[in-house]
Amino acid sequence: MDKALKSVLDWWDAAGVDAPNITLPLKTKPTTHTQTKSLSQTTNVPPSSNKPKTPIKLGPENPLSATPILDAAPIAASAKTLAELRIAISKYDAGILSSRARQCVFARGNPEADVMIIGEAPGKDEDIAGQPFVGREGQFLDSMMASIGLTDELVYMTTIFNWRLPQSRNPKLEEIDVCRPFIKRHIELKSPKVILLVGAVSLTALTGLTGVMQNRGQWQTIEVGGTDIPALPIYHPSLLLKQPALKKDAWRDLLELRSKLLALNDMP
Ligand code: URA
Repeated sequence: MDKALKSVLDWWDAAGVDAPNITLPLKTKPTTHTQTKSLSQTTNVPPSSNKPKTPIKLGPENPLSATPILDAAPIAASAKTLAELRIAISKYDAGILSSRARQCVFARGNPEADVMIIGEAPGKDEDIAGQPFVGREGQFLDSMMASIGLTDELVYMTTIFNWRLPQSRNPKLEEIDVCRPFIKRHIELKSPKVILLVGAVSLTALTGLTGVMQNRGQWQTIEVGGTDIPALPIYHPSLLLKQPALKKDAWRDLLELRSKLLALNDMP
């Protein structure tokens, strides 16, 4: 049996679902992306500054806290394309946040896709590969998406943090603040129709809400560059792998996402 199909059937089985006959009439878009162009062109971009701003202290345990961390906002704003943003982030020194990482992990998938999936931070496998969601959790996420017809070319994936955090620990709120300008600009340049907030960190970073248990499956709105984008919080695959009983809720959330996409695609 085809490997991808088998992983989808396994996922359905684990979620307690009788394999339904689902075919999503979602289209892959052409390679040109005029909306991205016009959004970035109309953005009022302040010039990037190389001068250190007020140092952002990340805590006394941070051995690099003496190093000033540049304000990411003007650097992010000066990027006009996804390619420029990738370069800007990979050159950015986020002190302790980026100092232990092998490389910057930017995104994978189709930049033209309607769905932008935003996770937390790269893990060990992603740090090595330089791509988000390629380890066990990523493979599981792929099978979740495939279960509603969202194959690789229909999604675009990134993370709030573009570096593996030291010891893959959970980030602090002030660390999220440091990196938020990059993910906001990433969303603006990508201009997805729908965002999937995968896990608690992306929920908090982009909506200010806490508690993925309370907020999963409930549509939120993320405003970037004057555009409101619907965003659905879902459980992180790492949680689902630890607590398989939650897969039933996750399946409901996936169906909710599927309904939204079908509704959006019906629009002229
Ligand atoms: N968890 C995430 O949130 N992102 C990754 O890329 C890997 C694990």
